[in-house]
Amino acid sequence: MMNSRHAALEFIILCFNFFTMKNLLPFLLLALVFGGCQKDELPSAKYSFVKPAHFPEPVYPLDRNPVTKEGFELGKKIFGDPILSRDGSVACNNCHVKGVAFADPQHPFSIGVDEREGLRNAPGIANMAFMKEFMWDGGVHHLDFAPPNAIENPLEMDEKMTHVLWKMNQHGSYPALFRKAFPDMGDTITSPYLLFALSQYQNMLVSATSKYDHYKLGDANLTANELEGLALFEQKCAACHSGILFTNQEYRNNGLDSEFADLGRGKITESPDDMGCFKVPSLRNVELTKPYMHNARFKTLEEVLDHYASGVKPSATLADELQQNGTLGIPLTPTEKARIIDFLKTLTDHEFIQDTRF
Ligand code: HEC
Ligand code: HEC
Repeated sequence: MMNSRHAALEFIILCFNFFTMKNLLPFLLLALVFGGCQKDELPSAKYSFVKPAHFPEPVYPLDRNPVTKEGFELGKKIFGDPILSRDGSVACNNCHVKGVAFADPQHPFSIGVDEREGLRNAPGIANMAFMKEFMWDGGVHHLDFAPPNAIENPLEMDEKMTHVLWKMNQHGSYPALFRKAFPDMGDTITSPYLLFALSQYQNMLVSATSKYDHYKLGDANLTANELEGLALFEQKCAACHSGILFTNQEYRNNGLDSEFADLGRGKITESPDDMGCFKVPSLRNVELTKPYMHNARFKTLEEVLDHYASGVKPSATLADELQQNGTLGIPLTPTEKARIIDFLKTLTDHEFIQDTRF
């Protein structure tokens, strides 16, 4: 009696073990398979932010919004989608075109919905991860806040952020794409995640593979003319267009006008010292980003060099570097101008504009 009860108990325990094992087995197998898959799908360097060895630390807080393949691809899709504009006619990449390092090759002043003409020339948007402030006047302090500026500007996309989010939440593919890119988001697309996706895409637009970069890293040579241009540039231009980003990220008046149709930095700070000052632009890819200056004053690099040599206009805020020893501008011979242009063209990054990820 005792024995048979014991045997029955053992039988039950055995069954129980077998039952739980059997139930666990699929999970164990799944874990193995899934674990294996995950290994293959580790974020490759291709879709994560990699700081070029010769660049400074990025300014953008990448730890708070790290780049992932899903987030980057989503940001890329949004960047090219006119859903951001009031009437579905204007996308970010209407004005920021990849083939010209994300500047606007067509319009001196950018063109928004209803063909409305903007007030300034669209700058290229490479190396944004390294910039402290944005726009020609530095009116935007964080890359995440550049898109609302374009979306809500009546001369650009003339749309409301809330309405963009409404459209995206109704959309056939955006809700699923957002949930994949941002598993913590919940079910509804909200503005921080829209802005995170756009910043992930823009942060990846790093231009660091021009001929000049290869020269800096020791795997290309510059010609004699380009080297001569580099030496002249360092002497005459690098006070403002400094460092590996070719901008000191300060605001200066480079003598375009004596009276200012656009107050520039002065509009933001209201300080008399800032009137007519604009952010020193990076000169990376400058061969591609014509026309030049905030107001698209010059069509060619030759015209820019002519300006610095003999077109600088006096005013109360003109930069000191452009009025040394009582002379206006930077004296340059025709040959010196040509050499500087030879050098500037070494900043064109063909690998960047041909990168199939972007
Ligand atoms: C209608 C043309 C137009 C559209 C559309 C547009 N931009 Fe711009 N973008 C500009 C212009 C013009 C500026 C310079 C504005 C200024 O300085 O006041 C600019 C500036 C910027 C800057 C700052 C660049 C720098 O060097 O400071 C960023 C970043 C940017 N845009 C991103 C975007 C994104 C993202 C979108 C889409 C949400 C977008 N833009 C849509 C024209 C446009
Ligand atoms: C005092 C500082 C300063 C010096 C020195 C200086 N620049 Fe500039 N540069 C600027 C500022 C500021 C702008 C933007 C002005 C604007 O748009 O109103 C600019 C704009 C430019 C642009 C137009 C870029 C674009 O994307 O539109 C080029 C090209 C340029 N500079 C080249 C040069 C060269 C070459 C030299 C030397 C001969 C030089 N700069 C010296 C401050 C300076």
